[in-house]
Amino acid sequence: MSNNLLTVAYIGASVLFILSLGGLSNQESAKKGNIYGILGMVIAFIATALSSQVTGYGLLITVIIPGAIIGSILAARVAMTSMPELVAILHSFVGLAAVLVGFANYLNPDPSLVGAEHTIHEIEIYVGVFIGAITFTGSIIAFGKLSAMISSKPLMLPARHLLNIAMLGSSIWLGVQFMSTENGLNPLSIMTAIACVLGVHLVAAIGGADMPVVISMLNSYSGWAAAAAGFMLSNDLLIITGALVGSSGAILSFIMCKAMNRSFISVILGGFGEGAGKSSGKSQAPAGEANPTTPEETAQLLREAKSVMIVPGYGMAAAQAQHPVSEITKILRKRGVNVRFGIHPVAGRMPGHMNVLLAEANVPYDIVFEMDEINEDFPSTDVVLVIGANDTVNPSALTDPESPIAGMPVLEVWKSAEVIVFKRSLSPGYAGVDNPLFYMENSKMLFGDAKKNVDNVLRALSDLEAGKEKVLVTA
Ligand code: TAP
Repeated sequence: MSNNLLTVAYIGASVLFILSLGGLSNQESAKKGNIYGILGMVIAFIATALSSQVTGYGLLITVIIPGAIIGSILAARVAMTSMPELVAILHSFVGLAAVLVGFANYLNPDPSLVGAEHTIHEIEIYVGVFIGAITFTGSIIAFGKLSAMISSKPLMLPARHLLNIAMLGSSIWLGVQFMSTENGLNPLSIMTAIACVLGVHLVAAIGGADMPVVISMLNSYSGWAAAAAGFMLSNDLLIITGALVGSSGAILSFIMCKAMNRSFISVILGGFGEGAGKSSGKSQAPAGEANPTTPEETAQLLREAKSVMIVPGYGMAAAQAQHPVSEITKILRKRGVNVRFGIHPVAGRMPGHMNVLLAEANVPYDIVFEMDEINEDFPSTDVVLVIGANDTVNPSALTDPESPIAGMPVLEVWKSAEVIVFKRSLSPGYAGVDNPLFYMENSKMLFGDAKKNVDNVLRALSDLEAGKEKVLVTA
């Protein structure tokens, strides 16, 4: 393939990647966004494979085919709730690729690069290997924590910030050595080992509750590592793609931090999440008793309501209750009830988790609203169904300054006339914080697996619709 054609293909692929990101920002255009991304990647792959730089087709096919098969099987099998683990391990591959490309570039230098160009190229190699090594080991630790292979507790070594600074300082010093000697392989290798330890330490210091933010940040790191590899290989497409991934990952991390009331800088530096799973001790314990309810009573309430809001959370994903939820929505809408969904930005375990599940169950997009769009409507809502959500509807975030989630914006479900909470027990959610919502006068608990209970409510509602009213069983 001629260089001109290659440039055209790369520009086409870059445009498709940008369109893909644009498409993914909205549920209705997300499918189209995915297709743009796939098309862009196919063009990028074919153009690169046909470029004059690539000659070893035997080797390329030997690695691509098993890679494509393994990737397809993994992607087809992965459950939505395990997606963060898959993403984490994929980031580690990007990091490792950047390290390998860096070493390969250093060991096989381009003789045409002299003077300033040679110096810049060496800097690219050093920085690329550094970011790649941190991404590689950091992502492996993130994968281990998310898949419960290693403890999700934050590792709090004494003087850990000093340790990070020492590792960073020695990497910079080794960088100077690398640039000033003929044989820079030793400083490059030692720095790689240090950056690998730094990656482990940075992510090990982060608690389970903050892992999704870390995944998004590692996504950003992997983008910058890819961009650095693009500089090393003088591949413009890799630079553009890496920059897109790097910046979008950073923006997403920032949005998630804001939604969880976390500081972006502290997450980058590690050591967050230690508050998760334990109360500050000073936070107010909820008072009163929870009121249990039944699926039949819930169905009756829904039938009498004019406006219903459904607030899903991680428990809906874990129970896979989205399909019967969608059926209930259909029945109520047929009755003329105004049914809407309220989605918290960090509901579930990854960005867009709830939206994907609802789309999968064919819930119409135009009744799914973001927290900011819907929060003011709770006082005029008759019934709210909280399905497997907990932290994202916890009033103590607004009322208890001592609460570990104080300041986190939440869906103000308690302002509606009636709240039904679907969950198995009164135990806390991801952040490990008690929830006073469960003890409020206007809220009732529908205990049990969310799928089973939503199925039961659906059955009771269908029976009522069919005129087969049953005697209400009160708890
Ligand atoms: P959580 O606060 O984790 O609450 C989910 C609730 O679902 C649990 O309390 C659990 O209670 C219940 N549950 C689990 N399995 C269930 C089942 N099979 N049937 C019924 N209920 C079930 O979830 P949330 O409200 O979605 O909040 C998300 C949390 O993740 C927040 O703390 C957020 O900060 C954190 N987080 C999210 C993200 C993103 S991007 N989504 C990023 C970082 C952190 P029982 O055990 O009593 O059933």
